[in-house]
Amino acid sequence: IHDRRESLYIVTSWAADVFQKSLWETDEGKSIGLSYFRERGYRDDIIKKFELGYSPESWDYLYKQAKAEGHQEEYLVSTGLIIQKEGGKSYDRFRSRVMFPIHNLTGRALGFGGRTLKTDKKVPKYVNSPESEIYHKSAILYGLYFAKKAIVNTDTCYLVEGYADVLSMHQAGVENVVASSGTSLTIEQVKLISRFTKNVTMLYDGDAAGIKASLRGTDMLLKEGLNVRILLFPEGNDPDSYIQKFGPKSFQDYIEQNQQDFISFKTQVLLNEAGNDPVKRAGVIREIVESIALIPDSIKASLFIRDCSVKLDIEERILIAELNKIKLQEA
Ligand code: CTP
Ligand code: MN
Ligand code: MN
Ligand code: MN
Ligand code: MN
Repeated sequence: IHDRRESLYIVTSWAADVFQKSLWETDEGKSIGLSYFRERGYRDDIIKKFELGYSPESWDYLYKQAKAEGHQEEYLVSTGLIIQKEGGKSYDRFRSRVMFPIHNLTGRALGFGGRTLKTDKKVPKYVNSPESEIYHKSAILYGLYFAKKAIVNTDTCYLVEGYADVLSMHQAGVENVVASSGTSLTIEQVKLISRFTKNVTMLYDGDAAGIKASLRGTDMLLKEGLNVRILLFPEGNDPDSYIQKFGPKSFQDYIEQNQQDFISFKTQVLLNEAGNDPVKRAGVIREIVESIALIPDSIKASLFIRDCSVKLDIEERILIAELNKIKLQEA
């Protein structure tokens, strides 16, 4: 006897299997999906490890097989694999896409991201499983199942934006990595990480969106008491593109040499935006102190105040006064 959640898991794992077989065993899957992954530089062992798949160009490839094998329509719809139209006609959500199954902590696939192979800007790059009873986007980190051991062993977690970044980093031998998958980092995700380590390094994309997400992510992590480091990639790069362009060795060197603590990171980004305007520069200092004010451990916070005072060449007592003012406003 299965409960309902179990029945939904059975359907999603079954679908992961169908997409995987389609990638490795069908002509369309091999010539389109598998070639795509290989051309992006992914090794077969990585493609297999992450159980990547392919959804063919068809409205009912999955649906037909599901019916033939006796899977209940309701489960297919509840997991978002099948979309039911008003009139009752049903069709596959994922079509003509390479498939990334999203695993829970025990390694079961409970949702999917599907990437288009088209370069047409009008087609959404990724289609994802919708929220369901078993798939909660805000509480999932892509890759955690494959990373948790390495996270514990290294006592660090790399946080990246996307599926491709996780794959390439594994291939480069860096396995303590998870992706927030485009959604801005949530408290649930932060709490999930903190079960395994208190040390997080953000490796977001080197674009305006990535920088913004890093600033926001920094505050989320600090607030939960985690130690944060940030690494900015050269404009237009993400961990995946960097690795595929420059190779694993220079990637490892790059992340070793370019990680910064959050004070240096915020100083660099915000002072750069502020230019020489003294009012704006004062605003930057305030923003950094605002981040420090989020740190629950007051001893740690006071050490960062000292660090900030040295880095920005401002008297410590002024920063402390500012910190106390912010704390009072919050109270
Ligand atoms: N994402 C999404 N839907 C989109 C765009 C992005 O869900 N329309 C999520 C995906 O999880 C994606 C992540 O956000 O992996 C980061 O987005 P982006 O940097 O644009 O994609 P990449 O992961 O770099 O994908 P690729 O390298 O394949 O272009
Ligand atoms: Mn639930
Ligand atoms: Mn991005
Ligand atoms: Mn990216
Ligand atoms: Mn990318």
